[in-house]
Amino acid sequence: MRITVDRRPAEQIDADALAVPVFEGRKEDRFGSSDLYASGEVTGKLGELTLIHHPNGAAAKRVLLVGAGKPDQFDPNVARRVAGIAARYLKQKSLKNVAFLTENGENFAISAVEGAILGNFDPDRYKSGNDRKSLDSFTVVGDVSDAAAEQGRIIAEAQNFTRTLVNEPANRLGPSGVAEAARGMAEQHGLECEVLDETRMRELGMGALLGVAMGSAQPPCLIVLRYRPAQDSGKAHLGLVGKGVTFDTGGISIKPAEGMEKMKYDMAGGATMIGAMQAIAQLKPAIPVTAFIPCVENMPGSRAQRPGDIVTAMSGKTIEVINTDAEGRLILADALVYARRQGCTHLVDAATLTGAIVVALGHLRVGLFSNNDALRDRVLAAAETEGERTWAMPLDEEYKDYLKSAFADLANVGGRWGGACTAAMFLREFAEETPWVHLDIAGTAWIDDEKPHLAKGPSGLPLRTMVRLALDWK
Ligand code: BES
Ligand code: ZN
Ligand code: ZN
Repeated sequence: MRITVDRRPAEQIDADALAVPVFEGRKEDRFGSSDLYASGEVTGKLGELTLIHHPNGAAAKRVLLVGAGKPDQFDPNVARRVAGIAARYLKQKSLKNVAFLTENGENFAISAVEGAILGNFDPDRYKSGNDRKSLDSFTVVGDVSDAAAEQGRIIAEAQNFTRTLVNEPANRLGPSGVAEAARGMAEQHGLECEVLDETRMRELGMGALLGVAMGSAQPPCLIVLRYRPAQDSGKAHLGLVGKGVTFDTGGISIKPAEGMEKMKYDMAGGATMIGAMQAIAQLKPAIPVTAFIPCVENMPGSRAQRPGDIVTAMSGKTIEVINTDAEGRLILADALVYARRQGCTHLVDAATLTGAIVVALGHLRVGLFSNNDALRDRVLAAAETEGERTWAMPLDEEYKDYLKSAFADLANVGGRWGGACTAAMFLREFAEETPWVHLDIAGTAWIDDEKPHLAKGPSGLPLRTMVRLALDWK
């Protein structure tokens, strides 16, 4: 979709449709809206849609009044949603060239562009036929810089790249496919990309990661993407670690059949970090950022690891694998240790790690765990700015007791209760003293029911939080 800015008055904008936000209680006259307010047809309620054909005094063929809610609650996050609602509604009507009125400044314009690009996305690439609909162009109308529109485009296109990767089924995108996608992106955007293969990982002693990969015919890999700013102060170095399980059957501790098809999204954390690096490469924050994506397929098979197996992680710690379905923490353990050895001073991981986080927070909030209050607050602030709702969860020392093993340094599961907390505690054992944040995105990386502003399927969360964290680093 082409993104443009038009600074002419709204009346002069020639488009298939001009979307105009209208607000509760603010009965302005917008191409006939005052009459519609008077008749009660328009209230300004968030998401309300009123399409006007042949609007009075507008060059556009249609005006779409989009309810934007209460004026005092209208912020860039609401603007993103409103633009997404308009984009999805208009593309459904087979309209192609859409304009959107923004009057609140640059941050609203950035969000509006994001909302339109995100709303224009549908995970329908494997549907045949020509009834697939999408917008050709989106024009922000207002006193907005090209740079703002460009920033919105970069971030939302990165997020859609993540969503495309997550949506790929496991037969079409295994570990090597993810590596190829990362490499292609890196070449296009000038990042360094290195892919560690099985042999290299064995040399490095990544026994926890390799154990998970044993059941699959597809070889595992560890993808490393490096961004370096023009001037590196040499102080902080951000490491982004993402779980890349291209399919999670559970392994020998196999999952029930119902809903298992969704486990193609178990690489969403990894795809998020790859997408974040695409945006970071273009927006060029001042801090060096390196992404680490351990990729495996978790399968049962004659060579698969078994419950009771004891593996040795790269740090030297031994792990008793009680449940082969708790595989994410095993691959992340080695990736976290490797990231620290690569010089990262601050770590953030994102992983569809536990069903327990869905029990705790539903599909609304990302669960955050940390060993460092300052980094936790940075990530929470970034998430808040970007409207990616996140909630800090506890990580008391005593959760470690849940992970005791009679035969190894620790067990890979912590029993029935507090599953998201014990999983995070397991990771902390590998982050050790390095400031680290873990984001459990099992409940938020996938949208189960279509929303007016977003399609069903991969959400691309928490990509914007990662990009914001890097951009705002001081
Ligand atoms: N990938 C799953 C977690 C998951 C569950 C993601 C539901 C999305 C939706 C993870 O590998 C897993 O299987 N976790 C187990 C851990 C348990 C065995 C301790 C879980 O949450 O049930
Ligand atoms: Zn699992
Ligand atoms: Zn998993």
